[in-house]
Amino acid sequence: MKKTLDQLWRPKIHFSPISNWMNDPCGLIYWENEYHLYFQHHPFSSQWGSMHWGHAISKDLFHWQEKQPALEPDPENGMMFTGSTVWDKNNSSGRFTGIKQENGLVAIYTGAIPTQDPAYPIQKQCAAFSSDGYNWQKEHTGPVIENVKEKDFRDPKVIFYNPTKQWIMVVSIGTEVRFYGSENLLQWTYLSAFGKGYGNHQGIWECPELFKLTVKNENASKWVLVVHAGQGLSPEYSGAQYFIGTFDGKQFIPDSVNGKEGKWVDLGFDFYAAQSWSNNFDRTIWIAWASHTAYAQDLPTDNWRGLLSLPREISLLNLNNDYYLIQKVPKEIDELRYREITPTISLGNDIMNYYFAISDTRAIELDIELDRKSITIVNFTFKKNNSVTLILNSFENTLSIDRSACGMDKYSNIWEYKKHVEFPEHFQVNGRIPLRIFWDSCILEIFAADGLISSTNLIFCPELLEQIIVKIEGHNLKEDVNAYHLTKTMNFN
Ligand code: FRU
Repeated sequence: MKKTLDQLWRPKIHFSPISNWMNDPCGLIYWENEYHLYFQHHPFSSQWGSMHWGHAISKDLFHWQEKQPALEPDPENGMMFTGSTVWDKNNSSGRFTGIKQENGLVAIYTGAIPTQDPAYPIQKQCAAFSSDGYNWQKEHTGPVIENVKEKDFRDPKVIFYNPTKQWIMVVSIGTEVRFYGSENLLQWTYLSAFGKGYGNHQGIWECPELFKLTVKNENASKWVLVVHAGQGLSPEYSGAQYFIGTFDGKQFIPDSVNGKEGKWVDLGFDFYAAQSWSNNFDRTIWIAWASHTAYAQDLPTDNWRGLLSLPREISLLNLNNDYYLIQKVPKEIDELRYREITPTISLGNDIMNYYFAISDTRAIELDIELDRKSITIVNFTFKKNNSVTLILNSFENTLSIDRSACGMDKYSNIWEYKKHVEFPEHFQVNGRIPLRIFWDSCILEIFAADGLISSTNLIFCPELLEQIIVKIEGHNLKEDVNAYHLTKTMNFN
């Protein structure tokens, strides 16, 4: 039975490891025509533990091939916690001389030496080098930043800052982040800190990101700092929050229009530790661990545990003089449409019902376009009356998701089941809120208002999906509702 459920829940187009435990994506880099995805991995257990960097590659962000782990723990550096990879194009580290090529990849990661208290390994920032992305050599002179007598000091993300020709590291420390600068990726100078009084501090801050994103409706770009508040955060928040501002090579200063609040990246339950691929030209694409630190160890799969979100191409939009993150599934996904699912339709007085019968376990895309305001209710019905419901109300600007009736309460008592969020009126795109939804085995990802809203949710229903019912209520509406099966990209039975 366990094996059958493991297969039932195995994602078809989302990345999950062949076996055992996975958490954060890390070290992501696009290099020599391949997307390298490294990830926090315990190759010998389906529980979090001795962290390695697992490794997978892809040419299109959807077909992934898992390789041997890239980095494994050792007594000097400890466990291989999250970090990032850059292309050291000009050999600034000096570590590529003598190897057949004159440049290569540098990973800056957190080495975590276990102590008596499993929650607090000693954390320091370390480096490793590779000329092919597969074989790595660790730096022989010790850590690049020593432990700073803080319990939580980890997850360095490195970028190249062109105006000063410096490498910049953003790294989390307690409930803040710190910035460091370097000429050579090996010696780092402290620059500044950010976080006191800003954003949500219910959990410690982890996995920071710093990037400059294009503003779609302006001839401009803005700096965005993302931090994940987890480990202690209650399961009702997903944990990914962002701040918009300026970065001058030393300091991040948030725009005052945003107040001190920060904005949530994802309005669902399960989107954490997002990281973008470095060296990816003008596309910023990121991917997240689709889980929540509160219950990640309780996911009911057996041989594999953990999966990633779909990749998302990100940019900003200026609405009412405030900036918002837009997330869209990269266009490569369009290649995966395999077969259109023809619905049965029943039309009533200002009510339209679409019934999509599902007899295939392939992943599904559902697109809903409306020409004016409506209440759209999407019901995923599984065998034995299990169901998941989402409601998008464009009169009230709310999105609700309810996963309380799909049987997942059997597996954990920590999940939160219902979420009702309000979003600003100006998220409407000409008075409408287009919806794009992806269902894949155990995960439901919702994108609304052209990517201004995203909601990522794990759904562990022990039954097969039988039907998707879309009910649209609105006056004089014209709607376009389409569903497709998507070709499987992950090679599991
Ligand atoms: C986030 C995290 C990181 C850490 C890694 C360890 O999920 O706690 O802060 O580097 O997981 O696996």
